[in-house]
Amino acid sequence: MAKQRIMYECMACGYESPKWLGRCPNCGGWNQMKEQVQMPENKSKPQVTVTLNRSNNDKGHAKRLSEINYEEQNRVSTSFDEFDRVLGGGVVNGSLVLIGGDPGIGKSTLLLQVSMQLAMNGQKMLYVSGEESLSQIKMRAERLGVTSENFYLMAETDLAFIAKEIETIEPDMVVIDSIQTMSVPDNTGVAGSVSQVRQATATLMRIAKDNQIAIFIVGHVTKEGNIAGPRMLEHMVDTVLYFEGEKHNRFRMLRAVKNRFGSTHEMGVFEMQDIGLQEVSNPSQLFLEERLENATGSSVVASLEGTRTILTEIQSLMTPTVFGNAKRTASGIEIQRVSLLLAVMEKHCGLLVQNQDAFFKTTGGVRLEEPAIDLAIAISIASSYWNRPIRVDDCFVGEIGLTGEIRRVSQIQERIKEADKLGFKRIFIPHSNADRLDLDVKIKVIPIKTIQDAVRHVFPKQ
Ligand code: TYD
Ligand code: MG
Repeated sequence: MAKQRIMYECMACGYESPKWLGRCPNCGGWNQMKEQVQMPENKSKPQVTVTLNRSNNDKGHAKRLSEINYEEQNRVSTSFDEFDRVLGGGVVNGSLVLIGGDPGIGKSTLLLQVSMQLAMNGQKMLYVSGEESLSQIKMRAERLGVTSENFYLMAETDLAFIAKEIETIEPDMVVIDSIQTMSVPDNTGVAGSVSQVRQATATLMRIAKDNQIAIFIVGHVTKEGNIAGPRMLEHMVDTVLYFEGEKHNRFRMLRAVKNRFGSTHEMGVFEMQDIGLQEVSNPSQLFLEERLENATGSSVVASLEGTRTILTEIQSLMTPTVFGNAKRTASGIEIQRVSLLLAVMEKHCGLLVQNQDAFFKTTGGVRLEEPAIDLAIAISIASSYWNRPIRVDDCFVGEIGLTGEIRRVSQIQERIKEADKLGFKRIFIPHSNADRLDLDVKIKVIPIKTIQDAVRHVFPKQ
């Protein structure tokens, strides 16, 4: 019998070492090396493969571009607009899609609903769960209230059995929930270890590409925010989606982090209810629903999420520091961005913020990343600092430079139109965006050059 070897493997990046190390030399993470027993690879055993009639027989041959025919119709709609949009317009045949997110955020619920809908639309679906039993899933499926003869369910963690079942059922799409519970025969290490996750993903990739089966993989995220087993999984698959949101909040956001078949800026919004996830097609209205009139530190930004403009409230709270260093916390916005804006406000608008604690929050748990949110944040800082409310029907868009200038943003017309649609009366936009506007809107568009300008306009001298 071949000898076993002990190796130490970094749980974050997959780096291997014969000795235990406190710090991984590859990714620099501390305390992530775990012992793995390695069996020498058995080359004679076949790898897990699936061969269907529709399998691709071109393996090992090069072709001219003109000889390759592909069907235009290779996207399948899921009937969930929010889901389709994030994928770039539907599920691409033969693609491997990873859906990551914190445990309990609703990944299984989302995929169960999507795959049951796909089955109702005539796609043959196989849902493989390594986490729940068949009866548990059935219970949930009944609660979600959809059934179809095209929907097959399997509770299994061994990829060899799953591959066999794929050969018998010949599904159009497969859901693997979750990759961390899957194991490949002959692989060393327990399910969930880096090498198992890597091999299982590689196997699924081959099955998807060879047989034109779209495969969705669920991946739990570690506390550092990486998909466990982690970044290396992202480059193996075609599309990486993150399902996120605050646990205690009913809104869930689906975002593309990587997409070989579409843009990565799209966001889908869902609401978790007792009957499962419901699509939210007009998120602005919901995000602004609880806004108070005459509250200080609250401003609205017209932010672009992919092809869609979403209006969201940004809240700031400035309070004197009791002792020690001033605290800064932000949820939904990057902390570096708010620190920079605090510095700009101090330098150019005369706010003394170094002895103020500052707290920032976006409503609905949305994460805002584009620079065009700067102006709204800056105005909310001033509002909280001076204790002066912002008019409820004002909204803001613009990037702020270090010298306090308001810089151009993209897609200004869409933002103005959306703000107008939601009944806002004034929108502050960068001066350089204002020259070529061609709009028929009721909203008053106010171009501004600098942050001082904006502050003077929003908080006129009493
Ligand atoms: P789940 O899909 O199991 O999460 P994940 O697969 O990401 O770990 O979601 C579980 C949570 O969703 C759980 O806290 C209960 C909640 N939930 C509802 O609120 N309504 C529902 O209809 C369902 C199915 C789940
Ligand atoms: Mg789950």
